Amino acid sequence: MTVNILGIETSCDETAAAVVQNGRHILSNVVNSQIDIHRLFGGVVPEVASRKHVENIGLVVEQAIKDSGLSYADLDAVAVTNRPGLIGALLVGLSFAKAFAFTLDKPLITVNHLYGHIYANLLEHPQLEFPVVCLVVSGGHTSLLLMHSESEYELIGETLDDAAGEAFDKVARFLGLGYPGGPAVQKAAAAGQPGRFSLPRVFLHRDDFDFSFSGLKTAVMNEWRKAQQQGEANVYDMAAEFQNALVEVLVGKTMQAAEKYNARSVIMAGGVAANSLLRELMTRRGQELGKPVYYPSLPLCTDNAAMIAAAAYPLYLQGQFAPLNVNAQASL
Ligand code: KG4
Ligand code: ZN
Repeated sequence: MTVNILGIETSCDETAAAVVQNGRHILSNVVNSQIDIHRLFGGVVPEVASRKHVENIGLVVEQAIKDSGLSYADLDAVAVTNRPGLIGALLVGLSFAKAFAFTLDKPLITVNHLYGHIYANLLEHPQLEFPVVCLVVSGGHTSLLLMHSESEYELIGETLDDAAGEAFDKVARFLGLGYPGGPAVQKAAAAGQPGRFSLPRVFLHRDDFDFSFSGLKTAVMNEWRKAQQQGEANVYDMAAEFQNALVEVLVGKTMQAAEKYNARSVIMAGGVAANSLLRELMTRRGQELGKPVYYPSLPLCTDNAAMIAAAAYPLYLQGQFAPLNVNAQASL
């Protein structure tokens, strides 16, 4: 049996659509990023994001279907992110998906955006073995999950304040590095030297799996002002030390959890999993401990609709379809 699912994603500042066959084969993957517009404001402006989604969604979906080589009749279901995210942005994708599903007389499937990020790993690395410890690191979330199978998982830790991506974005803005913060910090860090500033590894030695990044952000501000007074404010060195401090905590806690729960694999999901230092250190630590580390390829790490269409496949097989009056949810 062949199942072709059209996925739609508009939870933040990317208008995306994709067609995925049997949850594994990406037939098309179109992402229209609004980054250039939001950069002018130093961050995502929700109202602007919604309006841009309205302008782009029709073209993006049309392109994804065209690229897939399929016709409307070949599609078996329409999957869409309906939680969590910016409410106005989510509603554009959800309303479009409802109308499209109704018109084509195909089932509608609603997908949790974070589960989509996790599923990007199953899409690209179907061989990975359970139990899995999964680090979810996006702009709005930072959590550790223990996954017993694809569908059974428990939360073992989460951030008590800022998310890791949020910390990258706020520190980048404070240092004048621009938006989005993660790639900007990564680029600046490559030209700097960690260790010239001294920042805390918050909660690294606590024996739970929670995170806290707002103190790290405050420490950056304090150290930066001190350095400015002394005429020693090197933005590259600060970016390098900040990236190290944050990544060392993510890697340390994830691997402590992998050991405690005897995980057979470690996976990473969400936009921050695109960070090259995080990928490198997590992989190296995993090799030392004999725990294979997986993460999605770069296009599937940041927001995209292929992960949404893939995550909808098991729901399709279980017949978990959404009614046409289903709503969007800003938070979980
Ligand atoms: O998953 P995502 O694309 O959107 C959300 O669901 O939030 O994640 C966006 C976050 C932003 O905070 C962005 O700065 C961060 O991912 N990010 C990175 C990198 N690329 C994106 N953080 C660190 N290093 C990167 N290379
Ligand atoms: Zn995301």
